[in-house]
Amino acid sequence: MRPVDIIHKKRNGEVNTKEEIEFMINGYVNGQIPDYQISAWLMAIYFKGMTKEERYYLTMVMRDSGDVIDLSGIKGIKIDKHSTGGVGDKTTLAVGPLVASAGLKVSKLSGRGLGHTGGTIDKLESIPGFKTAISKDEFFKIANEVGMVVAGQTGNIAPADKKIYALRDVTATVDEISLISASIMSKKLAVGSDGIVLDVKTGSGAFMKNVEDAVELAKSMVEIAELNNRKIVALVTNMDQPLGDNIGNSLEVLEAIETLKGKGPEDFTELCIELGANMLDLSGLYSYEEARKVLKENIDNGKALEIMKKWIKAQGGDDRVVDEPENILPISDKIMEFKAEKDGFISHIDTEKVGIASMVLGAGRKKKEDEIDFSVGIKVLKKLGSKVKKGDVIAKLYVSDKSNVEEAMRLLKESYEISENPPGKMKMKLIYEKIIGGK
Ligand code: URA
Repeated sequence: MRPVDIIHKKRNGEVNTKEEIEFMINGYVNGQIPDYQISAWLMAIYFKGMTKEERYYLTMVMRDSGDVIDLSGIKGIKIDKHSTGGVGDKTTLAVGPLVASAGLKVSKLSGRGLGHTGGTIDKLESIPGFKTAISKDEFFKIANEVGMVVAGQTGNIAPADKKIYALRDVTATVDEISLISASIMSKKLAVGSDGIVLDVKTGSGAFMKNVEDAVELAKSMVEIAELNNRKIVALVTNMDQPLGDNIGNSLEVLEAIETLKGKGPEDFTELCIELGANMLDLSGLYSYEEARKVLKENIDNGKALEIMKKWIKAQGGDDRVVDEPENILPISDKIMEFKAEKDGFISHIDTEKVGIASMVLGAGRKKKEDEIDFSVGIKVLKKLGSKVKKGDVIAKLYVSDKSNVEEAMRLLKESYEISENPPGKMKMKLIYEKIIGGK
């Protein structure tokens, strides 16, 4: 086989075989095929796409380039949840304990944040003492005893994806559905859960800016899981505005805790219940309707919060954070206000820019090596459809001496549009579509 012939085939819109896809990926990982040939192949895929089978073979060869984790040491039903990433997306922190309180086992490997989206691992590390680098034995012990555990993803899960993603990033081939689905699913299928619930974000703060593309991406990932005989459900959800009110590490932990106390923002609470109900439905423990009821009860009766407390303690964190989050979490007391410049309705939010505003305050990383400040971030007080008067506070900025407040204010000003009329209902819908595997 020669790489040039495989590139040629794809360039002409033909289908690559399983052997050809394996040859390209393995050759790249081994250093036998150079960057320029893989780049050309990726660009050909970008323009010509891949069939369902090609996507599957690509996923599997990337998955098998590293460790495949067997979770059979964890007793019970294990359902994984994955979000394609957004601004203010702290769902894992609340959904995990919530579904664990209803009998599921949640054992997650998560990543750090980069760019405008935050990462679960960074958020958790804002809790004093919380350890995300835990041994395999600890991981299994906590999952079995508490029902909920989150560890940092090791370097050896789908290393081929890591190498290829770095190349895609500099060759303008990130935003292609086959490549995104194979990248995400290679990591998801590397962990032996019984089922997966995907939260595919769409809107101004997501990879997929429009609903149609997000639905296509969701369907593509569902098909890959089906070919792997894995149970899966994908929800396509709104990222046309930040999820919940808080953005930034400690602020997001605070909001997750408040949500499990029944005092969370409406959109975030509803998304947690919806994702959780789908996880329980997929597990067979409850029907979807029963699950919604149980999850709401477990917020009201404190069971979900109790699991969160046990989980934080088990991973070395200061569990007083659950009772007195404001005293334990590092949250800056230096607050600046971003105000409305005229009367009207909030009609559009460039959510990606709001995420970048939080990043320039210090809550996120521009480059992998950047350090983050857990104490800074943004609290959004006015969301889509809110009526505002000139001078009303739209958002509070929690800042430090190192924050680039001027840049953050400029970004927020560019992000928010105030018009005479509120936006259409579609823009404020929380869940657009549900795609169920095996149907
Ligand atoms: N997230 C991933 O892990 N991979 C992509 O290609 C895009 C988002």
